[in-house]
Amino acid sequence: MKGNITLTLIKPYAVQHGYVGSILAKINEASFRISAMKYLQMNKKQAEQFYAIHKGKPYFEKLVRFITDGPLVVALLERENAVEIYRKLIGATDPKIAAEGTLRKLFGASIELNAVHGSDSDENAVWEANFFFSEMERF
Ligand code: CMP
Repeated sequence: MKGNITLTLIKPYAVQHGYVGSILAKINEASFRISAMKYLQMNKKQAEQFYAIHKGKPYFEKLVRFITDGPLVVALLERENAVEIYRKLIGATDPKIAAEGTLRKLFGASIELNAVHGSDSDENAVWEANFFFSEMERF
């Protein structure tokens, strides 16, 4: 059975460029319910932990640098088949090849500055949700 949650980060690059409102509007239009949300800045250790799966990749250092560059918005999103539908909404990792109208096409600058993160599996969505939110912070 497909899960009903996914986790998104509106990355520091997108926050700094004033895209938070527009991205949240697109999320609402796609019928996601926001069940938890925070505005925070990750430190290096937290970023390395969150992106541990990418450790050893050539882009890992840059990834950690960009995600800790300023405050970001983290939100837990809910709807049926959440991971797959949200990944369609955000588009390919690289904005250059992302489909027209997707969040990364509209608001991303490059593969590193790609505006948003979305969980890539139901299993990771649960892990990422637990990383940022306690039960008491979910509605
Ligand atoms: P995100 O969905 O946050 O997950 C991992 C991030 O690594 C990805 O988005 C990109 O911002 C970043 N990244 C940088 N270079 C690459 C690359 N070559 N392939 C995949 N991800 C990359």
